[in-house]
Amino acid sequence: MQRSQRNTLLAIIVLSGLALSPLAISHYDDKEPAQSYRQSWFAMMAANFGPMAAMVKGDIPWEENQMAAYADQLAALVTLDVMRGFADGSDKGTTRAKPEIWENKADFKAKMDDLTTAVNALQAVANQGTDRKAIAEGVGATGKACKACHDDYKSKDYLY
Ligand code: HEC
Repeated sequence: MQRSQRNTLLAIIVLSGLALSPLAISHYDDKEPAQSYRQSWFAMMAANFGPMAAMVKGDIPWEENQMAAYADQLAALVTLDVMRGFADGSDKGTTRAKPEIWENKADFKAKMDDLTTAVNALQAVANQGTDRKAIAEGVGATGKACKACHDDYKSKDYLY
């Protein structure tokens, strides 16, 4: 076998190994577009909220500009229609979304609206920049909105 062929074969083996790994769950699966849509949205929420919470806890240095920038990203994300990702029939597949969401859509939507309210308030206070106590409270209130919904509607494990 030619060296280049062998390298190609090796690359294929490595890549297919990754694809089969249970850790490598795709964020976009064209057979599950609604599930992928909502999970990608939550991943972006967490990627912005995570460092904000870490700054409040003192795990990373508090940077006012960064705090405001993350809050702006969260505020941009909550303008997207994430409920589209919870369309009827998308209560299955690779998901941690509990079936109760589709039984209690109004309550679920209200919890999503609570998140929007908390994020918009956090954006306002984070952009003033100076009152760290108020910003920390805003981060706490946002985290509570995440948790309130996860407690009722997000399973710890993939369901199906
Ligand atoms: C109104 C309900 C609700 C709110 C509010 C909410 N979540 Fe979630 N979250 C869910 C559900 C349901 C899932 C499971 C989605 C799935 O697996 O299809 C989820 C999944 C996630 C995931 C896993 C995404 C993945 O890769 O599969 C992360 C991370 C996450 N949420 C973070 C957050 C953060 C951070 C907040 C607050 C800033 C938040 N969520 C607010 C309901 C909510």
